[in-house]
Amino acid sequence: MCGIVGYIGKANAASVLIGGLKRLEYRGYDSAGLALLDGDNVRVSKAAGKVANLSERARTDWTPELFQNAATGIAHTRWATHGPPTEVNAHPHLDETGGIALVHNGIIENYRALRSRLETKGHHFLSETDTEVLAHLIGDCNKGDLFQAVCDALHQVEGTFGIAVISAKEPGKIITARRGSPIVIGVGNSEAIIASDASAILAHTQRVIYLDDNDIAIVTADAVDIRDLNNVPVTREIAELGLDSAAAEKGGFEHFMLKEIHEQPESLANAIRGRLDLQLGSSVLAGMGTSQRELADLSRVVMVGCGTSLHAAMVGEYAFEDLADIHAEVQQAAEFRYRNPILGNRDFVIAISQSGETADTLAAVREAKQKGAFVMSLVNVVGSTIARETGRGVYLHAGPEISVASTKAFTSQVSVLLMMALKLGRGRRFSRDEGLKLAREIESIPELVRRVIEKNDTIAEIAARYVDNEHAFFIGRGPMFPVALEGALKLKEISYIHAEGYHAAELKHGPIALLQKGTPVIAVACEGPAKDKTLGNIEECRARGARILGIVTEGDHDAEEVMDDFIAIPRAHPLVATIPATVALQLFSYHVAHLRGCEIDQPRNLAKSVTVE
Ligand code: M6R
Repeated sequence: MCGIVGYIGKANAASVLIGGLKRLEYRGYDSAGLALLDGDNVRVSKAAGKVANLSERARTDWTPELFQNAATGIAHTRWATHGPPTEVNAHPHLDETGGIALVHNGIIENYRALRSRLETKGHHFLSETDTEVLAHLIGDCNKGDLFQAVCDALHQVEGTFGIAVISAKEPGKIITARRGSPIVIGVGNSEAIIASDASAILAHTQRVIYLDDNDIAIVTADAVDIRDLNNVPVTREIAELGLDSAAAEKGGFEHFMLKEIHEQPESLANAIRGRLDLQLGSSVLAGMGTSQRELADLSRVVMVGCGTSLHAAMVGEYAFEDLADIHAEVQQAAEFRYRNPILGNRDFVIAISQSGETADTLAAVREAKQKGAFVMSLVNVVGSTIARETGRGVYLHAGPEISVASTKAFTSQVSVLLMMALKLGRGRRFSRDEGLKLAREIESIPELVRRVIEKNDTIAEIAARYVDNEHAFFIGRGPMFPVALEGALKLKEISYIHAEGYHAAELKHGPIALLQKGTPVIAVACEGPAKDKTLGNIEECRARGARILGIVTEGDHDAEEVMDDFIAIPRAHPLVATIPATVALQLFSYHVAHLRGCEIDQPRNLAKSVTVE
């Protein structure tokens, strides 16, 4: 979603800020802006559209000297919430005096009330945004101490924020604070860089401080002073990012999505490495922070997530029930806290999120903690809010996922869920030999995926036959049902083809009315207990003229025969096969979108990390 960058150092702030915004482009945005301190003035430049537009605009708005010499500034990429993505609505926003500039992620929920109060005091607003109201509020509270003004303003605010503020009257410092929207401070040599996401910091330093909710920091080139909103000092450790800046480059691939699909044999090996116990036929997931005794006593697993992470949870549901004999269910994170879920101390809540910042998943974590459940996370981004708030969990180790469409995070999520199910299953019903057999299957996942990726060119040829359709259906049964949902999500988000995922049996309860000659039905029909029934459902679609693309198991000629096209994946345990089957659909979606000329890594209207409800 929106991105924040702030810089304070000796010079060259504009270039650092624009470079940082470029690193955040993957998050999805629709306008951008930056503000620099210039003596007694704040200089602002904004542009609708891409960061490249802003870069060009700033070079015409400003002198080369300002561009080179300014040492303090803040910048933003905006994903529109309040008001369209125009230049005037883009951040930074200024207070009434024009001397204070603010960038903001999140939503100020009581902005209407604050705005009318400020208007009665004579404030004039230029934009439709909630952020401009906060900028004016800070100005209104300012009695000569910017830090105190920000504290006073934030006390009046309802909602979420990650902010960075500068003032022409107090050069040499940036005030930054968070509640519900992440802020990371990179600590360099006589420079500091503030960002909403560590990828904007990587090129400068590996040393970072993560702010917690309700932290506010005074950042200078040489120090970071963190307090709470009541001005009480708090201590936050400096952490090492441990990320290679090359990981955030395309590495010769045309798109991050294609690179990330190809990285999966390695990202999966990283997710699995050291976590299988081939002696005991179990898995070692120390981060879960539970003993076998505690696991044996659990009565239920509840998984929460959104989007692709929700689909991974749905595969997990099959895995826990089938492998571990434990009642498992999936709940949509956005709904979780509003339905007043029934939870107890024998429930194991697993929050699943690539970014670890999704607002709804975070809220679900907080609700589950309130209810006394065991709560843990399955997160990719180290140090993210969900990871820190759950305190226990398993990292995915998938490396930075830049493309908005999630790929390698999903396959790592499913692998880790399978290892969790193995661990629980071993404590409840599996013999050592059964556990060992499954552990060996899990160990083979990177190789299975490598073999699917080898079929990239064939998949591209097949994709070319589906490029001109505007609708598509994805169907599956059992654990392949969530794979079908994920396939449909991937296709619609990057190719803009209207794609619907259904349980294969559900089609005839309504959606089949939409099938016409040539309507694509993508059927995930790999070997497993549900395969024959899926083939029956495929026949129903064929009888109505649908064009069938099947994901089948290698050598399954019965299945191939009922398909117009098929992608064969290696034979595997039906739960394990969800991973290579998904990779085949990722490649299919990628090639369809590519042939349609879509902007694959940053699809329209989408954000990588959804930090608002
Ligand atoms: O970071 P998270 O895993 O919590 O994100 C959840 C969804 O926003 C995300 O999976 C989204 O659906 C992706 N665009 C799917 O490709």
